[in-house]
Amino acid sequence: MLDNEITKENLNKLVVTFYTRVLKDEKLAPYFIEKLGDDLKSDIWQKHITLLTNFWYTISHGRGEYNGSPFAPHMQISGLDKEAFEAWLRLFFSSVDKIFVEDIANKFKERSSIIASNFMRNLAI
Ligand code: HEM
Repeated sequence: MLDNEITKENLNKLVVTFYTRVLKDEKLAPYFIEKLGDDLKSDIWQKHITLLTNFWYTISHGRGEYNGSPFAPHMQISGLDKEAFEAWLRLFFSSVDKIFVEDIANKFKERSSIIASNFMRNLAI
């Protein structure tokens, strides 16, 4: 059964599903392993998972605990290219489809596409 509401619990599930796939992806894994290591159970990954759960909660509810600068850390990642963003979006979309009904999934897809486009524009790629 796909979820028809957005909660902290299913956002956490989304984030964990997504990063489990990221770490198995040949193109994307190296960017994340360089900054966070390869063990999703480590403290650094657990912090990242909580941060991103709060990020998506804040985006989807228009309020919440995330008050960081989402773009800033991406300036410190070397070798980011268009193919990396395409791979990121492909894995994010398929993760969203595993958890949410179509209407909600579509909203996440729209928001993430817009953010990815902004990031690429800021990075001039
Ligand atoms: C190829 C694409 C991407 C890669 C390789 C990537 C990689 C990373 C990495 C390694 C970090 C952790 C940086 C650190 O803590 O030093 C990070 C943080 C983050 N990423 Fe991405 N990212 C990508 C695209 C995106 C997109 C499209 C979004 C949003 C839709 C996003 C949202 C975030 C957020 C919210 C953070 C945390 C920012 C903070 O510290 O407040 N990322 N990303």
